[in-house]
Amino acid sequence: MRRPLIAGNWKMNLTREQSRNLATAIAMDANTSRADVVLCPPAIYLETVLETARSIRTVGNEFGIGAQNVYDKPNGAFTGEISTAMLEDLGIGYVILGHSERRQFMHESDDVVNAKLNTVLASSLTPIVCVGETLEEREAGRTLEVVGRQFEGAFAGVSEGLASRAILAYEPVWAIGTGKTATPEQAQEVHHDLRKLAVLRYNSALGDSLRILYGGSVKADNAAELLSQADIDGALVGGASLQADTFLRIIAAAR
Ligand code: PGA
Repeated sequence: MRRPLIAGNWKMNLTREQSRNLATAIAMDANTSRADVVLCPPAIYLETVLETARSIRTVGNEFGIGAQNVYDKPNGAFTGEISTAMLEDLGIGYVILGHSERRQFMHESDDVVNAKLNTVLASSLTPIVCVGETLEEREAGRTLEVVGRQFEGAFAGVSEGLASRAILAYEPVWAIGTGKTATPEQAQEVHHDLRKLAVLRYNSALGDSLRILYGGSVKADNAAELLSQADIDGALVGGASLQADTFLRIIAAAR
């Protein structure tokens, strides 16, 4: 049985005060009996959100705080970057890797995602590795080829033992922040294909236990249907994670 996970990616939004208020409301009311919950605020507010959540409930795997990015080097002259050791030092449990916005705007290649994944898996952090095709790629019938390349690229050289700690997120680029959600059937098809790729690359035990989240315009009113698909094990939520009531409704929609 794969335990659902609902992660909120706040992206570059909110003030410190708003982050504190949102974290308070979610930490107070999030029901983690059926799903793990992870909040991913901007890096500068990680400590605020962590301390806020800790003042209300236990923070760990079931209710965790995640970073939106991390660098692959342990320390040194890398101006502006943050290391896994720094995140661990704070008590952060998760990190998003290879988000399409980082691939698009910060030019993160599959090789960069691979280097970061290796670094994260050598730490105690749990990576959420994002893959997804653009509209052009989908319309050209290249979805499986693209997400397959991203999956293989990210996991190149990663052992089965380490890969079993990773979480995958399928986020079709054309559905992110656009209000266009993949239909449950479209999402399920790709999730199923990704699970098959994990089985082929590793083995069926890893494929069966791999958690694959869906992301891309997940809202309170479409979450239940998406989450009811056989191979959809949770959601990576952007816009709808910025309001406590909507995000709590998405958490409640997890089976
Ligand atoms: P969205 O973003 O829910 O606003 O579409 C999802 C994501 O990018 O993780």
